[in-house]
Amino acid sequence: MVKVNIAGCDTFVKAADYQKYVEKALAAYDVLRDENGAGNDFLGWKTLPVDIPESLIRDCETIRDEWAAKKIDLVVVIGIGGSYLGARCAIEALSHSFIQSDKAPRIVFAGNNLSEEYLSEVMDLAARSNVACVVISKSGTTTEPAVAFRVVKEYIEKTYGKQEASHRIVAITDAVKGALKTLSTQEGYRTFVVPDNVGGRYSVLTPVGILPIVLAGFDIRAMLRGAAAEREALLEKSAENPAVKYAAMRNLLYTELGKKVEILVTFNPKLQYLGEWWKQLYGESEGKENKGIFPASVVCTTDLHSMGQFIQEGDRVMFETTVTVENSNRELVIGSDEQNLDQLNYLAGQRVEHCNAMAQLGTKLAHIDGGVPQMEVGIERINEENLGALFYFFEFACGVSAYTLGINPFNQPGVEAYKKNMFALLHKPGYEAQTEEILKRIQN
Ligand code: PA5
Repeated sequence: MVKVNIAGCDTFVKAADYQKYVEKALAAYDVLRDENGAGNDFLGWKTLPVDIPESLIRDCETIRDEWAAKKIDLVVVIGIGGSYLGARCAIEALSHSFIQSDKAPRIVFAGNNLSEEYLSEVMDLAARSNVACVVISKSGTTTEPAVAFRVVKEYIEKTYGKQEASHRIVAITDAVKGALKTLSTQEGYRTFVVPDNVGGRYSVLTPVGILPIVLAGFDIRAMLRGAAAEREALLEKSAENPAVKYAAMRNLLYTELGKKVEILVTFNPKLQYLGEWWKQLYGESEGKENKGIFPASVVCTTDLHSMGQFIQEGDRVMFETTVTVENSNRELVIGSDEQNLDQLNYLAGQRVEHCNAMAQLGTKLAHIDGGVPQMEVGIERINEENLGALFYFFEFACGVSAYTLGINPFNQPGVEAYKKNMFALLHKPGYEAQTEEILKRIQN
């Protein structure tokens, strides 16, 4: 279960102010619990950990086993934003960083950018592999995944034939609408549904995350169990509720102290994509109406040698939330060296993780001294159960936090602005007037 520690903010905030923000967060908690706030038609994620039917997991396992029987060794997962970040976060956190498991296919992600070089390189890998594809788009109309899918689909059809392609492609999309749904029906693909009442960035515990995680060989039941236990813990309304503490403190730091940037810190590179997933969750949920904390992330100690200077002494706009991991899953002890030329014998016999823990503690204290308030969101170790708990915690806390700020956490009106310009510039049918207008604008 997730633990929240806000003691690293003590020197920055007054207890009475914190109490005031706890009250606000508790009121926001009521809105989320009672489902009477803005965006309340997008609250399906709240009960996903206990609602996901066993049959859905079995359907995913059937595809996994079928593809294993065909010796498929590469699955291209196509999607952008909420349609890939959760799966990528879980898979990167749980996988060996360098060695591909011989029990599961390699998972690569495409359709999360429009880079020709990136997609060409995915296709280079496909050409050396036995390939299947999972294409994910809730709306079924997003340009980035649609472009990638057109390329991957054509390759799979040419390589394995149209009939076999329909067994190697699975789509995850809306139950009835969107281009991807229409295409899937016509081509006879197996499909999974993204529930109507779950927004993209809250969808990791739907088939959007479940199928890729199962294909990668991880224990989705344990992840759902962890999320369910976290949900249970968060059902208790109190000032000690971890989501209330986190939401209260970040709103206080933002509103009263002008801390406009929150940096999610990890000391384990396996959690890099937790930062990416979290940035979308909080950025898209809160960054509206000219309000919101700007979510950033760093991986330490790596980034202490790049961003560390700014965090220590630059403009005092930020606070940090460190995702702490109590126990490492591996053990590596530093040896002793007779000559000690590197002068590291003082560490002989210590685990590498001990050095990491001391770096983490040293950084926390230095950053407090430098004027950067510190929060911690802790798990015991990286595994499926604790990742499930983290997903649920951050989603629930995001709802509480956004309502505390007076923002609808479940829409994303601003995401459309770039799309309109891009469609106009690409001469998309239906955008003729915008095309004319934008061409005039860029010619001046
Ligand atoms: O959170 C969101 O809703 C968005 O970030 C979407 O996940 C993203 O834009 C992808 O949309 P879609 O799944 O419809 O292709």
